[in-house]
Amino acid sequence: MIRVGILGCGSIARQRHAYEYSLRQDVEIAGLFDLSRERAQEVAAKFGGRVYESMDAMLADPTIDAVSVCVANAYHAEATIKSLNAGKHVLCEKPMAITMADCEAMLEAARKNGKRLFIGQNQRLTLAHRKAKELLAVGELGRVISFQSTFGHKGPESWSIDQSANTWFFKKDQAAFGSMADLGIHKIDLLRYLVGGSVIEVYARLMTLDKKFPDGRPIEVDDNSVEILTFEGGATGTVTTSWTHYGDECNTTVLYCEKGVMRLYMNPKYSLEIIYRDGTRVHYELDKMQTNDDAQQAKSGVIDTFIDGILSGRPTPLDAEDVIHSMRIVFACLESAEKGTAVKIG
Ligand SMILES: NC(=O)c1ccc[n+]([C@@H]2O[C@H](COP(=O)([O-])OP(=O)(O)OC[C@H]3O[C@@H](n4cnc5c(N)ncnc54)[C@H](O)[C@@H]3O)[C@@H](O)[C@H]2O)c1
Repeated sequence: MIRVGILGCGSIARQRHAYEYSLRQDVEIAGLFDLSRERAQEVAAKFGGRVYESMDAMLADPTIDAVSVCVANAYHAEATIKSLNAGKHVLCEKPMAITMADCEAMLEAARKNGKRLFIGQNQRLTLAHRKAKELLAVGELGRVISFQSTFGHKGPESWSIDQSANTWFFKKDQAAFGSMADLGIHKIDLLRYLVGGSVIEVYARLMTLDKKFPDGRPIEVDDNSVEILTFEGGATGTVTTSWTHYGDECNTTVLYCEKGVMRLYMNPKYSLEIIYRDGTRVHYELDKMQTNDDAQQAKSGVIDTFIDGILSGRPTPLDAEDVIHSMRIVFACLESAEKGTAVKIG
C-alpha cells in the first residue's frame, strides 16, 4: 500500500489527483494540507485522509510515502523540495517551477534523497499522442518539417477553485506566468516528445488582450501568446496559447511531415488522423482529449504513471529529468518576449 499526501486541495487535486488515487486499490490518501483548511476538509470528506495543520506537519508523518504538489505555481519548488527532503517521492503539477534555478534545485533534491520526481505533463500520456509518438519514431511519416499546436480555453478562472477574476492565476507573485507557460508548457513539452531532438531557437510574443481584475485593471500576466520554435533538425512551427477562447476548448496539434500530415485531436471522432502524400487517409479512433469542462471523463494516466513508476523503479514519460528541458524552452520564450528578439538555446 502506498500512502500519499496532497499539498493544495483545489481543482486539480480534486479532479485528478484525489479522484485517480481513489480508483487504485494499492493507494491510500493519508494526508491533506491546504492554506484553506475548509478546502482540505472538503477533500477529506469525499476521498478520506487526515487534514494537517501545516505542510511541515504533514511531511513529518513517516508513514506517508509520496506527495502530490497541487499548490499555486510559485510554491511548487518549496513544496517539492521539502517533500523530497522529508523522504517522499513527488508528483509536482506543471509548470515545474517559476525559475530555472528552482527546477534544477528540485532535481538536485530528488538525486540527493534518492527519491523520484515526476511532473504532471499529462499530454504525453493521451492515447493519440502515444500512438503518434510510436508512428513518428518508426518513420511512418518521415521527417517532421513544420507544425502548429494550439491550447486555448476560457481562462483559469473558469476552472480553478476560486471562480473569480481575483484568481491567483492572474497575479504575478503567485502564478509568475500567464497562458504561455500555463498552457504552452503542455504543447512545448508535447512537441519535444513527438518531434524529438532539441529546440535550438524560439521567438515569442506574449500579450494581455482581454482579461481584467474585478477593478478593471488588466491582469498581471499574458492571456494570449504566439511562439515560433525551431528544432535542431530544422523543423519549425508555432505554438499558440489563449485564455480568451470563449467557446469550446481548442487543444490540437498538426505535424506536417515528408510523407504526409498528422492531425491530433482536430476531429472529435478520430483523435489521430493521417493524410498521406498520395491522398490516402487513415483514421484512428482512440480517445477524446480530456478537457477542463469534463475533467473526469477519462483517467489522465498521471497518477497511474506516478504510482507504477515508484513501484517498478522504471523510467516514465513524466520524469522531471526530461521535463526540465521543456522548462528551458519556456524560460527562453519569456526572455524572447521581453527582448523582442529570437533567443537561441545552447
Ligand atoms: N496538468 C494540468 O493539466 C493542470 C490543470 C490545472 C492545474 N494545473 C496546475 O495545478 C496547480 C494548481 O492548480 P489548480 O487549478 O488546482 O488551482 P486552484 O486554485 O484550484 O487550487 C490551488 C489550491 O492550492 C492552495 N494553495 C496555494 N498555495 C498554497 C501553499 N503554499 N500551501 C498550501 N496550499 C496552497 C490554494 O488554497 C488552493 O486551494 C497549478 O500549478 C496549475 O498550473 C495543472
